[in-house]
Amino acid sequence: MSERKMITAALPYANGPVHIGHLAGVYIPADVYARFQRRLGKDVAFICGSDEHGIPITIRAKKEGVTPQDIVDKYHEIIKKSFNDLGISFDEYSRTTSRKHYEVSQDFFTNLYDKGKFTEDVSEQYFDEQAGEFLADRYIVGTCPNCGYENAYGDQCEKCGATLSPSELINPHSMLSGNVPILKETKNWYLPLNDYEDFLNDWIIEGHKDDWKPNVYGQVKSWLTDGLKPRAMTRDLNWGVPVPLPGAEGKVLYVWFDAPIGYISFTQEWAEKNGKNWKDYWQNENTDLVHFIGKDNIVFHCIIFPAMMKAHGDYIMPKNVPAFEFLNLENDKISTSRNWAVWAHEYVEEFPGQQDVLRYALLSTAPETKDNNFTWKDFQTKNNSELVGIFGNFINRVAVLIHKYYDGVVPAGNENAEELREVSKHAREIKTFLENFEFRNALSSLMNLARFGNQFLQSEEPWKTIKDNPEKAANSLFIAAQIAVGLAQISEPFLPFSSGKLLKMFNVDQQNWQEIENEKILIKTGHQINPAELLFSKIEDETIDFQIQKLENTKQSNAKTNPNAAPMKDEIQFDDFTKIDLRTATILEAEKVEKADKLLKLKVDTGVDVRTVVSGIAESFTPEELIGKQVMILLNLAPRKIRGIESQGMLLLTTKPDGKLAFVTPDEKVENGIEIG
Ligand code: 2FM
Ligand code: ZN
Repeated sequence: MSERKMITAALPYANGPVHIGHLAGVYIPADVYARFQRRLGKDVAFICGSDEHGIPITIRAKKEGVTPQDIVDKYHEIIKKSFNDLGISFDEYSRTTSRKHYEVSQDFFTNLYDKGKFTEDVSEQYFDEQAGEFLADRYIVGTCPNCGYENAYGDQCEKCGATLSPSELINPHSMLSGNVPILKETKNWYLPLNDYEDFLNDWIIEGHKDDWKPNVYGQVKSWLTDGLKPRAMTRDLNWGVPVPLPGAEGKVLYVWFDAPIGYISFTQEWAEKNGKNWKDYWQNENTDLVHFIGKDNIVFHCIIFPAMMKAHGDYIMPKNVPAFEFLNLENDKISTSRNWAVWAHEYVEEFPGQQDVLRYALLSTAPETKDNNFTWKDFQTKNNSELVGIFGNFINRVAVLIHKYYDGVVPAGNENAEELREVSKHAREIKTFLENFEFRNALSSLMNLARFGNQFLQSEEPWKTIKDNPEKAANSLFIAAQIAVGLAQISEPFLPFSSGKLLKMFNVDQQNWQEIENEKILIKTGHQINPAELLFSKIEDETIDFQIQKLENTKQSNAKTNPNAAPMKDEIQFDDFTKIDLRTATILEAEKVEKADKLLKLKVDTGVDVRTVVSGIAESFTPEELIGKQVMILLNLAPRKIRGIESQGMLLLTTKPDGKLAFVTPDEKVENGIEIG
């Protein structure tokens, strides 16, 4: 058992706030573990930060019409504050746009490059000629070959869920310019993961069969069985850490190359501020490196990052990678885009002073071995029945009775009583659970100690014995005080805010875990305690109903009245709209376009002029029925040549249920050239 613990928690993408899924599946368990290791007296570095590169960031920026830097600046602060508010005790929470991180990740890349660890390969990538940029798969949109949805992404169709590649899309076009992307050759640097298969097999498949979680072990095994391929460690993008090689302009490090190096650069930032040597934490075999992640990150932490560290040669391998499954909310998948989430920053505002309740509820439903479900009703029950009804109730009775009968001074009792073993028994049990990453069991053990205390008081009834057997009453409260202080001590990793209050209430200092495991007397006879303070309070139905209603509102605003309607396009500003010149117009002439079944050539009076428009409406209208029809025209659309005819504008049309087209027209005849808007 190593004395030094390097604990990391997956770097959250700074493209949105964190929600309960992130908290339950990574950050709260990681925090419990880190706090617990500190209590064991280990030398702990608990490191995290915002993941500020990658496509999720640039997509969000595009959606909001701002720069990627604006996005990460905004969400980094929100995320950092939420973690802090919820008592996540990172030693360092930094960000991958920090100068240090650029330096460290570029040095890492150069180190591997100089050692000849990369292969160079030229491949064809999609390129938007108008925007002058290579396109990530997410930036290519087209029709899904699977379900016909017209706005499928180059990597996935959000309608039917199919995994796609851009070449499979029908009518692919660039999200940046709307143009059809071309394939263009580009050079990138690859890490030949296949060269690391033997190493990974020996280290994980042979070495960690028994101590890694089955979900993690199983996923790694299946990747290795399928065989690994070289993976590009650089990308043609303009947001990220620049590739530090001559001739690599316009290329950045792959986000999954730079992000895990963030753990190392942030440790360096922390070490510099705190007079530590970062290498002790990353390059010393006596350190246990533990990565807390969600299940979607397994391959990156168990295959790619270890291969990078192995290629470098100076780094230790993770001792364990406890990956969690996913948390659902009210039986539905948590989704940022559908706003189906309980957001950490909103919780903190709406439940002031109740951070431990969320920590408790999320730990008790932590998706350790399978996906799990959070419901507000369950949250309420956990608070009212367990935290208030058991834990808070016990503590409160002990403190109140000691004040009532003994002026707040701990009375004398039997220092060898059988019940005094309970605290150390639970402390040992929790230790075993936490060392095995069994957070829910550890939490149950804590609550069971409170339960034991409650039952003990209930059967001893000191409020009765005080009258005719005061010695017995004193003994009961002496024992109860030991249990209460035991709870104050061992609840700290789980419920740090309440533990802090309790230690103050009993007027004792925090002790390390071994002392709690070994010592029976945690508060001495004659010790003065402070007045009882309420730890937890009942959560009323109205509070829960309000939260449920909030989700119901989300559901309603997400529900489409027409299931076939395409999702809303990216938001535009009013200025964007005013650029569009829409007018009323009248069709003067119409004729078929030769050898084009769908096209009609129209002469249109726009009020401004008379112009030619080529329109794909021949399957819905005969030329004759169009003469004299009033229509709406997009007047300032750049002219385009269609079948050799210059089309000067576009008529507004929609599709009827029978698939035929219909004109969008004013409901009364008006003059031509009237502006619409
Ligand atoms: O999946 C995610 O949210 C990633 N941002 C996790 C990165 S973890 C690490 F490698 F940096
Ligand atoms: Zn589809």
